[in-house]
Amino acid sequence: MSLKVENLSVSFSSGGHTVTAVDHISFEIPDKTIVGLVGESGSGKSVTAMSVMQLLPPQAVLSGSILWKGQNIMGLSNTQLRSIRGSEMGLIFQNPLAALNPVFSVGNQMIETIVLHQNVSTARARDIAIELLQKVQIPDAALRLDHYPHQFSLGMCQRLMIAITLSMRPKLLIADEPTASLDVTVQAQILTLLNDLKEELDMSILLISHDLGVIAQNCDEMLVMYLGKLIEKGKPSELFKHPMHPYTQALIAAIPSPFSKRSEVTHVLKGDIPSPLHLPSGCRFHPRCPKAFALCSEKEPRLEPVCGREVACFLATEATSNSR
Ligand SMILES: Nc1ncnc2c1ncn2[C@@H]1O[C@H](COP(=O)(O)OP(=O)(O)OP(=O)(O)O)[C@@H](O)[C@H]1O
Ligand SMILES: [Mg+2]
Repeated sequence: MSLKVENLSVSFSSGGHTVTAVDHISFEIPDKTIVGLVGESGSGKSVTAMSVMQLLPPQAVLSGSILWKGQNIMGLSNTQLRSIRGSEMGLIFQNPLAALNPVFSVGNQMIETIVLHQNVSTARARDIAIELLQKVQIPDAALRLDHYPHQFSLGMCQRLMIAITLSMRPKLLIADEPTASLDVTVQAQILTLLNDLKEELDMSILLISHDLGVIAQNCDEMLVMYLGKLIEKGKPSELFKHPMHPYTQALIAAIPSPFSKRSEVTHVLKGDIPSPLHLPSGCRFHPRCPKAFALCSEKEPRLEPVCGREVACFLATEATSNSR
């Protein structure tokens, strides 16, 4: 088991208010698997990603544990974390410009990283860099190595960041909306590339996306997040065929997807996600839930095993306990 997150909570305090962005979540990323994390904006996906990388700002208060290869990385020093980040865990995110150094050429940034992480000569590192640029579909790769980040378009910078991160050959790649700024064909190419590299490098991936289609096609396991809580976990094919949580049902109903039978799903999500400063009582989805009943505003449902997956909804858990 490469990554095991147990009871992770993250809160931020400012001006006398506390926002709990992530609330007691637990999940695992086994070796060589792609786990997808979905949820609306503000649900806590990026805070989860940054917690795993231990890159949250100092005002964030974390509890629980993040076990990487059995070791809790939560209490490690910055020096210890630096050796894990990069060579063991890599992060790609939506804003590529923040990850690229504007004063060094692309080749400079890549070759140095490859020499350091793969223990090869500079000449060999240059060839590897060219191969990686070709893999992320950057044309004229050999020529492009001498260019600086500002000479690339935003979509190309995104691909550059992916190439640079992958040149470190991480064992766990955290990809936070990695294809959000790319057009559909490039998106598909990048996702295919990530899948190929997963095999080639024995890498696991935490793939964060708003796009349920992306999750369905690329992930072995899917985590659905709502206002800081995980509300459903399972295999994408099963969740798409038969979503149990009304929130998952609404997310799937709202988008065209390869697995959903639209006739089975009638509810589409209404209203905005509530402010994390004023969380609803009981199940935090109940004010927007078309199936809510009295208990839902009184008691918070726990994530419980139901039919080979986990769901945090009284309807799902009661239906199975009644049928026992
Ligand atoms: N540094 C911070 N200080 C205070 N609150 C924060 C901070 N970072 C995130 N939050 C809050 O934590 C919650 C979760 O944010 P997060 O960025 O993880 O959402 P997300 O699911 O990644 O959304 P999106 O899909 O828009 O990227 C939000 O309410 C956000 O305002
Ligand atoms: Mg985010």
